[in-house]
Amino acid sequence: MIKKIGVLTSGGDAPGMNAAVRAVVRAAIRKGIEVYGIRRGYNGLINGDIIEMNERSVSDIIQRGGTMLYTARCPEFRTEEGVLKAKEKCEELGLEGIVVIGGDGSFRGAADLSAHGILCVGLPGTIDNDIACTDYTIGYDTAMNTAMEMVDKLRDTAQSHDRCSVVEVMGRGAGYIAVNTGVAVGATYVITSEIPYDLNEVAKKMLESRKTGKQHFIIVVSEGVGHSEEIARVLEEKTGIEARTTILGHVQRGGAPTVRDRVAASQMGYYAVELLAQGIGNRVVGMQKGEVVDYDIQEALAMKKPYEDQLYHIAQEIAF
Ligand code: ADP
Ligand code: F6P
Repeated sequence: MIKKIGVLTSGGDAPGMNAAVRAVVRAAIRKGIEVYGIRRGYNGLINGDIIEMNERSVSDIIQRGGTMLYTARCPEFRTEEGVLKAKEKCEELGLEGIVVIGGDGSFRGAADLSAHGILCVGLPGTIDNDIACTDYTIGYDTAMNTAMEMVDKLRDTAQSHDRCSVVEVMGRGAGYIAVNTGVAVGATYVITSEIPYDLNEVAKKMLESRKTGKQHFIIVVSEGVGHSEEIARVLEEKTGIEARTTILGHVQRGGAPTVRDRVAASQMGYYAVELLAQGIGNRVVGMQKGEVVDYDIQEALAMKKPYEDQLYHIAQEIAF
């Protein structure tokens, strides 16, 4: 029976990470497993920035964005020496398992540590929803709701001025936030890197809608496309409709997690501890069709996630 585990958050923070930490800590304590919080991602494991957690350590955090354990990117952990230091720290403290809450990069690190005999279980924590083995990542719903609220506000001013509002949403290389937000705000066009686009087509759609009385426009651009300012400039030139660009940025990473994020984080956090309690490591936990599932880390990393082509199609079809 495993006696001591650690939990860390790594990579970009995401709303709901706190709920996941809480679930891991409480589930471990329920099973009589000691649990430690490792701060600032893999840095904490290398430097020994580790705190013992009890049931009250995670009180009053389920509703908070960010992560009480802090998070970081840790270049040293990409080296063999870094991983060895982390393994030694685990052995020194008697940590037999680690729950790693983060994205694909963090899972690669978890696979390396697993290869050195420490049981690691990854939980998908990123606003981008770009992890293939899971339908859902912790933070995604909150980020989309924030983006939607922001675009609703932008629409007020775009409407008052008869303007086009070009809004860039986050997602690194992935356009999941963009297409869902686009549908939710009734964007005239969604531009993402997964699907080819032609600004002549976008301009044509805007001008056709103008003929039927539409006066203002929302164009949602995914971060991965890379040049929303330029897109606004070109659309203004092609249509004669005044355009403004807003890059929503890190506001999408903050705020109180939604119900969906808190619940998914709690379910997956609990499940991760169940795996460790059975002595199972080198796994990534995910959600598929509402069920919690788990995969071998390498298998999970090799999977490809399809884009939401059908939703993209609907977005374009019903906005004009
Ligand atoms: P995310 O987990 O959100 O994808 P990163 O790609 O920044 O974020 O990865 C977070 C951390 O995980 C990195 O700072 C590093 O410590 C570790 N990591 C990333 N890629 C690797 C890798 N290939 N091998 C080992 N560790 C890695
Ligand atoms: O992966 C989450 C994310 O917010 C991406 O959407 C974005 O590209 C990136 O992180 C920004 O990272 P940073 O926190 O380093 O600015």
